Amino acid sequence: MTETRDLGIGVIGCGFMGKTQVETVAKFVKGATMKAVFDANPEISQPVAAKYGIAAEKTLAGLLARGDIDAVFIETPHFLHAEQALAAIAAGKHVMIEKPMAHSVALCDEIIAKGKEKGVLVSITFSQRSRTCNLKAKELIDQGAIGRVRQILDFHLLAGGLVKFPKWQSDKENLGILFGHAIHCFDRIRWLTGSDYATVYGKCMSMDPQAVVEASSMALMTMLDGTVVTLWSSGEMPPPSFPRREFSAMIVGEKGLMDIDAYGELLINTSGKWEVAAKQEPVDWAGKGFLDPVRLQSFTRHAQGFIDAIRENRQPPVTGWDGRQAVAAALATYESSRTGKEIVLNK
Ligand SMILES: NC(=O)c1ccc[n+]([C@@H]2O[C@H](COP(=O)([O-])OP(=O)(O)OC[C@H]3O[C@@H](n4cnc5c(N)ncnc54)[C@H](O)[C@@H]3O)[C@@H](O)[C@H]2O)c1
Repeated sequence: MTETRDLGIGVIGCGFMGKTQVETVAKFVKGATMKAVFDANPEISQPVAAKYGIAAEKTLAGLLARGDIDAVFIETPHFLHAEQALAAIAAGKHVMIEKPMAHSVALCDEIIAKGKEKGVLVSITFSQRSRTCNLKAKELIDQGAIGRVRQILDFHLLAGGLVKFPKWQSDKENLGILFGHAIHCFDRIRWLTGSDYATVYGKCMSMDPQAVVEASSMALMTMLDGTVVTLWSSGEMPPPSFPRREFSAMIVGEKGLMDIDAYGELLINTSGKWEVAAKQEPVDWAGKGFLDPVRLQSFTRHAQGFIDAIRENRQPPVTGWDGRQAVAAALATYESSRTGKEIVLNK
């Protein structure tokens, strides 16, 4: 049965992504209303609450006890996702968990199991799936435009080093760039191929000798359908990094080629000639800043899918299982690098 009233939303963590989600829900998502936020630092949450005319709860328990909140968005450092998601589920709230879902596969499984038990939806913010060029690539692949996908070279190359990211990302418990950022790539590869990881072999390192987390990795993987994948992820490219390689992928199908740049163009070659199949409008970082509606398009599509699923009582477009499988592949890359062995994930 379709829910007719607006769903009440709470956001946990009011940093870069928390503010992004509050703005997205408040201004663009239909069928949902922002009710309250919580941040461990009230100096961060109070101005957000004042800006949107909503409550700034003093504790997580306070936010989760609110009867007017149906779903929460978890927008905190990685190692907090699992405990906060479990607390929200225990309080009967649907959860949208930022990527990566949790810092172990066992915790992902626990979140999925508890969500089922409580009858609430669990989704993960794999917002790359909602970016214009990725969406078009998926549509064309599903239509058979390049035939069956056989090989992928996936890039996630960012410039500047760990200092460029929030400080907590350099703490050991948050693991590194492959886990924290390239987790989107692990998900996109599964989504585009419609297959799952069979084997993972990886080499992980950091160019910064002081770093206690991984910052650069290469993974060689096979999918259950035989597709061979290489993923190159780094957060420490000397500026300005390579062009077209922030969230990009070169894809070889049986009948054609694709070159996706999630922040630029989607190129396709099916007849001996490269053509532009989709184009991402650039974000006006310098003028409109990080809340530029162009940047929020993908978050709006993503959040809308989750809200519609709750209202229509069906599974969300991105499930807890999707979050779990991406975490499993990323952690297997670290394990492979530690042990020097290829890891078999699924048979
Ligand atoms: N989907 C995407 O495209 C995307 C993009 C960037 C970041 N992220 C993800 O968003 C999450 C947050 O990243 P960010 O860049 O916003 O970080 P951030 O540092 O800007 O914000 C994190 C916020 O969490 C708060 N916080 C810390 N401990 C807390 C606690 N125990 N309870 C409540 N609040 C607490 C901090 O005070 C801070 O305001 C991460 O999971 C990150 O991977 C996703």
